[in-house]
Amino acid sequence: MPKMPTVVDGATVRMFSVGEVAERSGVAVSTLHFYESRGLISSIRTAGNQRRYTPGVLRYIAIIKIAQRAGIPLDEIQGALGDYDPMVRVTAAQWKSMATRWRAGLEDRIAQLQRLRNELAGCIGCGCLSLKACPLRNPDDKLAALGPGPHFEDS
Ligand code: FES
Repeated sequence: MPKMPTVVDGATVRMFSVGEVAERSGVAVSTLHFYESRGLISSIRTAGNQRRYTPGVLRYIAIIKIAQRAGIPLDEIQGALGDYDPMVRVTAAQWKSMATRWRAGLEDRIAQLQRLRNELAGCIGCGCLSLKACPLRNPDDKLAALGPGPHFEDS
């Protein structure tokens, strides 16, 4: 089948089939379909209803894989990629913007995990699991604001 050229952002580009994108990106066809169903990537359809992707989709996939490795939820990835035209290549400046935002979130999560690790260290060998004393059992102690005494009904 001849490759379907199309015009993206004023330039004629060679379009890729889903199999070609899978081969070039190292991502399974089923995963590409999943990404598309979640709005992470997009394609155009041929007259025969086959998907065709611009070369820029490879950068989108690279970004998705990196973000997933960093533990960024798919909704957040979709939100970030949704700022850009899915048919146009993501620029280095756009990637820098996303990476900067995700790095800040990653640093927050690292700080939370370090806090959790330190609190867990205090639990090792304790075993009290006390709502009053254990920071992991009642991390925010929201009911403390209600004053002393029981605030739960036993079930
Ligand atoms: S189990 Fe006692 S402080 Fe967490």
